[in-house]
Amino acid sequence: MVQSKPNVTASSAGSQAFSAAEAQQIIQFNHLAKYRTSEWYVGHGEIQASNSDRSFEVSASYTLRAEVKLINGVFNPDNLTLAEVYSRRGRCVAIVDQTVDKLYGAELRGYFEYHEIPLQLEVCRAWESDKTPDTVHNLLRFLGKDGCDVARNEPVLVVGGGVLSDVAGLACALQHRRTPYIMVGTTVVAAIDAGPSPRTCTNGSQFKNSIGAYHPPVLTLVDRNFFRTLETGHVRNGMAEIIKMAVTDDPILFDLMEQHGVRLLETHFATLEDDAALAEIADEVIYRALFSYMKHEGTNMFETYQDRPHAYGHTWSPRFEPAAKLMHGHAVSIGMAFGSTLALEMGWLSVAERDRIVNLCAALGLSVYHPILEDTNLMLEGQKNMRRKRGEGGLWAPLPTGIGSCNYAQDVSLNTLESAVKTHQQHCLTLANAGHGTEMYLSDLGLE
Ligand SMILES: NC(=O)c1ccc[n+]([C@@H]2O[C@H](COP(=O)([O-])OP(=O)(O)OC[C@H]3O[C@@H](n4cnc5c(N)ncnc54)[C@H](O)[C@@H]3O)[C@@H](O)[C@H]2O)c1
Repeated sequence: MVQSKPNVTASSAGSQAFSAAEAQQIIQFNHLAKYRTSEWYVGHGEIQASNSDRSFEVSASYTLRAEVKLINGVFNPDNLTLAEVYSRRGRCVAIVDQTVDKLYGAELRGYFEYHEIPLQLEVCRAWESDKTPDTVHNLLRFLGKDGCDVARNEPVLVVGGGVLSDVAGLACALQHRRTPYIMVGTTVVAAIDAGPSPRTCTNGSQFKNSIGAYHPPVLTLVDRNFFRTLETGHVRNGMAEIIKMAVTDDPILFDLMEQHGVRLLETHFATLEDDAALAEIADEVIYRALFSYMKHEGTNMFETYQDRPHAYGHTWSPRFEPAAKLMHGHAVSIGMAFGSTLALEMGWLSVAERDRIVNLCAALGLSVYHPILEDTNLMLEGQKNMRRKRGEGGLWAPLPTGIGSCNYAQDVSLNTLESAVKTHQQHCLTLANAGHGTEMYLSDLGLE
């Protein structure tokens, strides 16, 4: 028999699982703040005991607090954002992308030295080919007892691109089952998409990002000054994720990308030239992309719903991206361009709108076609995998219904798929380079 205690609320009530006659007691504990593990996470729950004295129904939820901030000069000693977090903890445990360490390591170390905060730093090579369970294990060794023995409420600082945010985020999710982290995204993709994302992961043997956990950073800092040193190909790559949000959610962002996308690419978001007007546009583009993304992601952090515009371009691409060894942004843009022709075939989009989407991608050098789309078995396999991933209720492929809006296709039949591929192929043959983009293939495959 369950006894009432001073910090326990108990009452009699019915529930969904138990009929009114069966339900005996609802038990809730009023846990005291002094016992809390972390300032970012809090769990709630109640149990109901049945009259049979043989079963309980548990209902539990967990709330997290996370912040995303645009910032200027994250490692400038005058910027106190990181110092305020880490000085009260007496140290900073950090994981930094190898390339970023070469470029910004001195600044990062100087920042913590200036604020007299000891730094325990792990440099991690984070190529797409390193996105494996082995890399996660190595990071766990660093975080764990044989490394710096990070505390369960101690936010790990992660500095790098989308690959590092995925693998280091997963290592944090696994360490103590949930260790917080702060993400400083140093690529366009990490700044506006992978960085604040709750989806931490590694690649599976055939399917991208298939092993992981929902574990968003508690703080994401977006500082476009890092884009100055990016290879232009990686700036272009990130623009695909911006176009994704523009097409599905924000027509003004789409107009801005049509008008200024090429200049933003050439100037790495106004970091290579002193152009105040362009810098303002760069900030607006980044903020709008982040706002659209967080509007849908922040309200559905655990993917318990599949109406996710940010999955546009990501329905078939997780299967064909590794098979064709494409850069992520190019795989997404091929997925988006194909999706726009599919939406046209389904009567969701006009020819003019389809052309605007394809032309914007192509103008930025993003690929809009690859012959791998003609591999029907692979496309169907990708569709089957995605359907399972999305819960079997439907394929729920986001497809545009105009510029700035989308709907979700529950199913795409073999006939529709084949016909859309053919129409898309014919359309892309009329484009420069048959729709192939600039630097579309991964360059980090030749491992040392
Ligand atoms: N979790 C998610 O929701 C999500 C969303 C989008 C993408 N992703 C993943 O993100 C990955 C792609 O991320 P990415 O495009 O950031 O690639 P990336 O992390 O591979 O970074 C690209 C390259 O740039 C280097 N780099 C990073 N910052 C730099 C800087 N400031 N200056 C110079 N070089 C720098 C990196 O070392 C790397 O060589 C893919 O694996 C994709 O699956 C995840």
